[in-house]
Amino acid sequence: MRFDTVIKNGTIVTATDTYASDIGISDGRISAIGQGLPVENAGKVIDAAELQVMPGGIDVHTHLDMPFGGTTTLIDFAIQYKGQTLRQAFDGWMAKAEGKAATDYAFHCIITDLGDAQLEEMGQLVREGVSSFKLFMAYPGVFMLDDATIFRAMSQAAKYGGLICMHAENGGAIDVIVRRALAEGKRAPKYHALTRPTTAEAEATSRAIALAEMAGAPVYIVHLSCNEALEKVREARDRGLPAYAETCPQYLFLSIENFDVPGFEGAKYVFTPPLREKWHQEKLWQGLAKDTLQVVSTDHCPFCYKEQKELGKDDFTKIPNGGPGIEHRMSLVYSGGVHGKRFSANRFVQLVSTAPAKLFGLYPRKGTIAVGSDADLVLFDPNEEQVISAKTHHMRVDYSMFEGIRIKGVAKTVLSRGRVVIEGGKFVGRPGAGEFVRRQTYAGV
Ligand code: URP
Ligand code: ZN
Ligand code: ZN
Repeated sequence: MRFDTVIKNGTIVTATDTYASDIGISDGRISAIGQGLPVENAGKVIDAAELQVMPGGIDVHTHLDMPFGGTTTLIDFAIQYKGQTLRQAFDGWMAKAEGKAATDYAFHCIITDLGDAQLEEMGQLVREGVSSFKLFMAYPGVFMLDDATIFRAMSQAAKYGGLICMHAENGGAIDVIVRRALAEGKRAPKYHALTRPTTAEAEATSRAIALAEMAGAPVYIVHLSCNEALEKVREARDRGLPAYAETCPQYLFLSIENFDVPGFEGAKYVFTPPLREKWHQEKLWQGLAKDTLQVVSTDHCPFCYKEQKELGKDDFTKIPNGGPGIEHRMSLVYSGGVHGKRFSANRFVQLVSTAPAKLFGLYPRKGTIAVGSDADLVLFDPNEEQVISAKTHHMRVDYSMFEGIRIKGVAKTVLSRGRVVIEGGKFVGRPGAGEFVRRQTYAGV
């Protein structure tokens, strides 16, 4: 038996099991799992003593293509602008990724304009591996769709095996609250958060679930930020509905208090939904432990503080919404979840890799460690500590929203389809080596 690579002496951690074993890799896939695999003829031997070997992280909510920190697959968003076909959106984003992505990637399609032609295209896109669609209940005049359009999209998704990802906030009500705030001269970054109440998120979450129930479709709520919305998902799941939700590290580690910083610095925390009161954090952690929430993604959407966030210096509505997070998702969730004694390392793998793979049609090619699966692997040191800082991070953005937070648990070596892309914490991959992954249809978890 000859392997391209053998990973020796590690402890394999999957969503279900923890055990000591070697892993043999051939042609980018896992070809053997067992103790004492032969290394004599192996092209490369990696010693994983003291390390946990996990399936590569899957971040299903990013707004660009720069992977790091143990994540080996991204699902980014191809945006259909008004007047465009869905195909134009897909082709546009495929062209953007061409030659740049260092690890594998896929796309959801953001639908902003749904005529009869685009409705038909949904089936074609699903067949081509774009098997999920993001819809917005917020941002009137830009992304927001009305209930009838959402219902039509959900019905079509149900027909073709697509999954609707929903940005659930009541955009109409928020718009009125925002205009009132501006009229009262409230222009600082914190008013972005204060004009987007938790009730607006809970109402839209509830409406999205009701529309999906009527359409006979599954629904996946993106970037859930607060307990009120969590309760809506819990009620739906208790009734047996296929309702799913993700949260993001910013809602687990940051709160509205982050706006108490000098000058315009609060702009670093302007994203949507906004930061909430601190007590929501523990509710979200509990939601992750109890499977009310199935996934942690990042909603990585990096805008530099200089020149980009600064566009909103005199008016919070002009601050670009979004923050960077892709690099630290796995370390943050491991720190707060596993070291915080809220859930096991297996549940951690489920949340950051296996459930995303199953929900979004990547499993079992990705999201697990099994013979035949892609050799997307993370060699993770559960005890290494680091302090997050923009001075040391690898994302091309001039601040970190997690600046100063201590993490315990760090990806040391990362393989993408058998190729080492991170070694000793350094990027050694190659832009262009990542491939588009055609995803299967939604099959439930
Ligand atoms: O503020 C955010 N989240 N920006 C990214 C777009 C979105 O709604 O996911
Ligand atoms: Zn969104
Ligand atoms: Zn997003």
